[in-house]
Amino acid sequence: MSQTNADAVCTWVDQMLDQQKHNSPAAQASAYAPSNIALSKYWGKRETSFNLPITGSLSISLAQHGTRTGLSVIDAPQHQVILNGAAIDANSSFAVKVCQWLDRVLPSDLKLRIDTHNTVPTAAGLASSASGFAALTLATNTLMGWQLPEHQLSALARLGSGSASRSLWHGFAKWQAGQLEDGSDSIAFPLTQQWPQLRIGLLTISSQIKAVSSREGMARTIATSALYKQWPQQAQTNLAAIESAITEGDFETMAATAEHNAMSMHATMAAAWPPLVYWQPESLIQMQKVWQLRQQGLPLYLTMDAGPNLKLLYEAKHQTDVQAAFPDVQVISPFG
Ligand code: PMV
Repeated sequence: MSQTNADAVCTWVDQMLDQQKHNSPAAQASAYAPSNIALSKYWGKRETSFNLPITGSLSISLAQHGTRTGLSVIDAPQHQVILNGAAIDANSSFAVKVCQWLDRVLPSDLKLRIDTHNTVPTAAGLASSASGFAALTLATNTLMGWQLPEHQLSALARLGSGSASRSLWHGFAKWQAGQLEDGSDSIAFPLTQQWPQLRIGLLTISSQIKAVSSREGMARTIATSALYKQWPQQAQTNLAAIESAITEGDFETMAATAEHNAMSMHATMAAAWPPLVYWQPESLIQMQKVWQLRQQGLPLYLTMDAGPNLKLLYEAKHQTDVQAAFPDVQVISPFG
């Protein structure tokens, strides 16, 4: 990012928080945010320091799978980051990102203990960073008494992790790419549509930390994959198709477009150099099983983020068939 751009973003954050940055904090606060899975993916940044995306994206949140973050004010020289009950190394990439985010929005003399509990495996492509930064943003808003409107909270969450901008709500959320240099219009908002019959099935192939972060993967894809050139156009077309399928309650179009979008994203990554393949052999076995079942008439689709795990998309009336085929599936009802 150019210095001018960085200054523009800092000015925008400062203006947004205005005097509130110096509110007296409450002693503690906590918040929950669900993780989310993009049906139309974000893959590629037009600006890297503040996670400004090349395209818009649209997601569904994962109900009880997410992050609860507790904050308390401490009398210490540094923030203290606790992940799932254990203090973590201040130099780990998670702690560094959390502290950078806090230092951008808080007065420099205010130090916090950040107690983060994930109910999704950390860094397994199940987007714990999305729910993590969304919960951190919501908890900080409460701790500091900011009372910021949701679109500003979304922009603040995005500074921590792009997909976090979509994780402040349950249900569908759309993140508009925005055009402004300072990123203040790169924000997400919830869609009003509900889809109580929609189910997401998590097939966890591995919960190991992924070898290549999304940030690095996106940069490599843009720099070296010739297939990336077609991605922005496809992402835009897919997003519009998914949004209208949601409005019309057209499951097949919504889920087929989401699967096509995910496969296309993974194809752009595979064409990067060195090749970027997040799948494991077991991922492909499960994908082929999905395609076979679909050929046999089961309306079952899949999507995958930057990791080896599958997320199945189907409707409640096919629960028994899905569970029979995938006994280990973890079922999520995003609308309760
Ligand atoms: O927000 P990040 O940096 O974790 O990137 C998310 C990238 C994908 O999960 C692959 C796609 C998306 O839109 O969530």
